[in-house]
Amino acid sequence: MLNVVVMVSGGGTNLQAIIDNIESGQIRNARITAVISNNANAYALERAKKHGIPAVCISPKDFSSRQEFNEAFLEKVEEIGPDLIVLAGFLVVIPPEMIRRYPNQIINIHPSLIPSFCGTGYYGLKVHEAALARGVKVAGATVHFVDEGTDTGPIILQKAVEVRNGDTPEILQRRVMEEAEWQILPRAIELIAEGRVKVTGNIAEVS
Ligand code: GRF
Repeated sequence: MLNVVVMVSGGGTNLQAIIDNIESGQIRNARITAVISNNANAYALERAKKHGIPAVCISPKDFSSRQEFNEAFLEKVEEIGPDLIVLAGFLVVIPPEMIRRYPNQIINIHPSLIPSFCGTGYYGLKVHEAALARGVKVAGATVHFVDEGTDTGPIILQKAVEVRNGDTPEILQRRVMEEAEWQILPRAIELIAEGRVKVTGNIAEVS
């Protein structure tokens, strides 16, 4: 059984997709042991509570330095003891010591087809604004392992969606979430739980 911790900052629709896939039995060998958020008002915490999942709130704002936060954050995560950490719209930079402690055990959902529209400053609506400004004909989402770079770790799954005439950033974001993110993030967890993802260097191979 894969013990999963999901880290969130906002609405939690990706968290909900994971919960739904576990409760439907689509994901069989994983359970969410805790949800962690840096934002006490995140609706994602409500979603966790509705499904009886322990919710923890910890924020850099509660500490006098980022180093103090990083140490407390890692201590809290180690206390929970996950096999897999899932970043589902988590807007806090993961401390390097946490990445070193959990090599290829942290995954992130990014709302573009990496390496397009990713890296520092590309998050949330900004990604879709940039895609529309460039005039791309396909958008999509990527699930990747987290390494010490920004959106640079081994890619596990990607899914493309079409960009339509008249799309606004909000319309495109919703289509990418519905047709890509909410599909490939649960699927990646399912594959990892089944031991079907193997990483060699910066390449993740799915069997
Ligand atoms: C999604 O757009 C995701 O791609 C990005 O942050 C947003 C999270 O949304 N990483 P939600 O909190 O899962 O609804």
